[in-house]
Amino acid sequence: MAPLAALLPPLLLGLLLPPPPPAAAESAPLSAEQLLVVTVATEATEGYERFLRSARHFNYSLQTLGLGQAWRGGDVAHTVGGGQKVRWLKAAMAPLGAREDLVVLFVDSYDVVFAGGPRELLAKFRASGHRVLFSAEAFCWPEWGLAEAYPPAGAGKRYLNSGGFIGFAPAVAQLVELWKYRDDDDDQLFYTHLYLDPQLRAELGLALDHRSQIFQNLNGAIDEVVLKFEPGRVRARNVAYDTLPVVIHGNGPTKLQLNYLGNYIPAAWTYEGGCGDCDRDPLPLEGLPDEELPWVLVGVFVEQPTPFLPQFLERLLHWDYPRSRLHLFLHNAEVHHEGHVAAAWPRLRAAFSSLRLVGPEEALGRGEARDMALDVCRREPRCQHYLSLDGDVALRHPRALRVLLRQNRKVLAPLLSRQGKLWSNFWGALSPEGYYARSEDYVDIVQGKRRGVWNVPYVSQAYLVRGETLRRELSARRLFALEDTDPDMAFCRGARERGVFLHVTNREEFGHLLATAQYNTSRLHPDLWQLLDNPLDWEEKYLHENYSRIFDEDLYEEPCPDVYWFPLFSEQLCKEVVAEAEHYGKWSTGDEGSPAGEAVALERLGLEGPWLRALRRHVAPVAHKLFPGYHTKARVVLSAVVRYRPDMAAAPQAPPAATIALSLALNGHFQGGGSLFPRSGCRVPAARPGWALLHPGRLTHHPRVLPPAAGTRYALLALLDP
Ligand SMILES: *[C@@H]1O[C@H](CO)[C@@H](O)[C@H](O)[C@H]1NC(C)=O
Ligand SMILES: *[C@@H]1O[C@H](CO)[C@@H](O)[C@H](O)[C@H]1NC(C)=O
Ligand SMILES: *[C@@H]1O[C@H](CO)[C@@H](O)[C@H](O)[C@H]1NC(C)=O
Repeated sequence: MAPLAALLPPLLLGLLLPPPPPAAAESAPLSAEQLLVVTVATEATEGYERFLRSARHFNYSLQTLGLGQAWRGGDVAHTVGGGQKVRWLKAAMAPLGAREDLVVLFVDSYDVVFAGGPRELLAKFRASGHRVLFSAEAFCWPEWGLAEAYPPAGAGKRYLNSGGFIGFAPAVAQLVELWKYRDDDDDQLFYTHLYLDPQLRAELGLALDHRSQIFQNLNGAIDEVVLKFEPGRVRARNVAYDTLPVVIHGNGPTKLQLNYLGNYIPAAWTYEGGCGDCDRDPLPLEGLPDEELPWVLVGVFVEQPTPFLPQFLERLLHWDYPRSRLHLFLHNAEVHHEGHVAAAWPRLRAAFSSLRLVGPEEALGRGEARDMALDVCRREPRCQHYLSLDGDVALRHPRALRVLLRQNRKVLAPLLSRQGKLWSNFWGALSPEGYYARSEDYVDIVQGKRRGVWNVPYVSQAYLVRGETLRRELSARRLFALEDTDPDMAFCRGARERGVFLHVTNREEFGHLLATAQYNTSRLHPDLWQLLDNPLDWEEKYLHENYSRIFDEDLYEEPCPDVYWFPLFSEQLCKEVVAEAEHYGKWSTGDEGSPAGEAVALERLGLEGPWLRALRRHVAPVAHKLFPGYHTKARVVLSAVVRYRPDMAAAPQAPPAATIALSLALNGHFQGGGSLFPRSGCRVPAARPGWALLHPGRLTHHPRVLPPAAGTRYALLALLDP
């Protein structure tokens, strides 16, 4: 078959003359009922649905061609094609060719949204004075060589784009009547040839919308388009031409830019929490009996040494969701975590109705394990949703799964970020190379200043995917494990290319991401060092559960004058600190200036960093409360784990070198012991583990430590503020 370009010129010879439009129609305003929007979509993709929502929002009357039919128009995203659209349009226009009272707008659908309504559109079209108006762009595609043949365009965009045009029905019908080509011939080339024919251009009244009065093609023009936030609505403005385009087209590589703009237009959106189409098609779960709730497979991936993994596993047990509808696939690639998983397994059994564990011995790659888990859901007809969850996610919202399900999207991630950081599990934009780029709204979304459900190019670490989507659009067996590509990036790219939108929601607070880089698995209890990187998780594990009651309910005791007891840390912390000290093993004793008993300085354990932070964060506020007017600077004179045995003699606790002294009880397996304050003659028994004794450290309160009657007593001693 001869190429389209070669066939066209003879066709255009001896042309049909357009009937002269009635004079009255020239000037009379067009009413919205006189407009028909025609589009093409073979599948109701999310892009098509977005187009439809915007059309409905403005009450356009719309006809969709091709739904459910096979696409034979070629791979238009990557090469030429699209002729099938013209064939369909030709058939649709045949009966409308005599309708001089009708205006037809033809637009693509997957990558188009409306930013304005029919009246505005018709007024602008009428004002143009042309019979058919095509959209324009800066690129001459698909044949560069034709650029020379274009008439000059002043400052506007010079070249025709066929993704959008508007015209009186008879003129449009005459244009498409000329189509005699193959479905995979190029539609844009066809229209370009018609436009470039001077005679036809004049006879049919063809023109280009050079300055985006109506059509905004984003390709090559992203920087020209800004969002204008107005009360009640958002409008896209072309700042190069100072126009308000009505049809926004994310053509060529600008699909993602349209996704971004589509988060805002056309729907009203305000800082007060108005949220576009957040609430469309919710999945109603309220009041459903357990057995009717969606069947969910949870894929858990522990693929790097991760702090606080036992807490992560523990959280899986407390979801507000029935066991009968929950299934678990757990990939643990780390030998370091095998004990944690084994310890949690019996309880996980009680929380999930089926479980599958893939351990480090299977040596699966990250991508392979994720593909395997997806496939479990894909091949299980009952699997309605798949929740992927990485070990570094603290999903603290117990109803998170329900919230995500209710939102009813194909792919939806809960927004998670590192505490106090801008690092999160989504990207607002992509760089040309496909890596992270910051979108204008990224910071506002991470910080919750704008809340909603956002169409974004990349999500990771936690996301819900519909089982049906896995069986349909995402049916490829390999989505994650692609060579030379990070698994998450591969998955997101695959979804985007298949027309599946990736969403992230920050409508609620779901939890946070852990920082993993400083987690040192050669330590005995590496979580102890995590206060700086992951304070929330550290406090959850190590702070005494009644710590906040010191402030809320005055939960403390004063066993001797100016000597206070209060709950500070958890027993877990106490056990781990003792274990670290014993593991280190070099106890010093009886040195000048050192405390009574045997001691290991925290510095020796490498723990002084977190300890200093804990003193500032957790001890200083208590000291301030108990000794009003005193502000500790938390400057450490001495801090050590000390060990008291029955064979020691009663001795001064430590040299009276500090303003205040803190002694944290670390264990309970001993008898007797305690402290005697000689000035007041007051004796304090040894405290419960996790409770601290705080008192002035100068001579007035210079206690003697009493040896335990039996067993070994451990304490963490700190002298503060010289
Ligand atoms: C669309 O039509 C409905 C019902 O006729 C009307 O309430 C609404 O205001 C219209 N919307 C626009 C944008 O004109
Ligand atoms: C990790 O822990 C080991 C053992 O405690 C220690 O020797 C090493 O310095 C630590 N590494 C880092 C980077 O902190
Ligand atoms: C915290 O206080 C409650 C109520 O007094 C008590 O039952 C609980 O055991 C306390 N927690 C710890 C760890 O001591």
